[in-house]
Amino acid sequence: GALAIGIVIVAFFLGAIPFGYLLARLRFQTDIRQHGSQNIGATNVARTFGLSIGLIVLGLDALKGILAVQLAYWVTPAHPAWAALAGFFAVLGHVFSPFMRFKGGKGIACGLGVVISLFWPAALGAALVFAGVVLIFRIVSVASLMGMIAALVTLWAAGRFVDLWYFAVPTVILALWAHRKNWERLIQGKEPRFGR
Ligand code: G3P
Repeated sequence: GALAIGIVIVAFFLGAIPFGYLLARLRFQTDIRQHGSQNIGATNVARTFGLSIGLIVLGLDALKGILAVQLAYWVTPAHPAWAALAGFFAVLGHVFSPFMRFKGGKGIACGLGVVISLFWPAALGAALVFAGVVLIFRIVSVASLMGMIAALVTLWAAGRFVDLWYFAVPTVILALWAHRKNWERLIQGKEPRFGR
């Protein structure tokens, strides 16, 4: 009912908080969108200002996703479907942030937070694969793609795809779309590697 719709709206605006942009503004008095990949996410903040502040952005963006889902669990505990929907709307808010003229981030950190809350083993699987790919290939977009695949496989293997697909499928499509410039650069062999 109205309560559930309220949760979805709150999740959207929670997801829309552009922590990467805000931290770069407050700490370095600059617009992160004028650096590196021009993305407001943890990866580009780390690329531009160093790993520690990138990790802070990762944590804060993930926290948005965690909170959006926990809020739904708390308000409508009898209807876990709303938690999954709230999770999707948090990522949607991040990618189409009204605070950034609807040009937000790519949804990976926020999506990770959502998955932590919805089904943490899938988040663990995704994080392990992500870390492995980053360490070996040093291309974060590829690691994000592999992490998403790992999350989907874990959900499916654990029998949770049936009740979480309406979070997982639209979110993965959204994140793939948000990475469209990364895929272009990868095909052209121009996607930058980390730490070089
Ligand atoms: O989460 C975003 C990451 O997958 C790519 O970021 O800055 O390399 O486009 P970036």
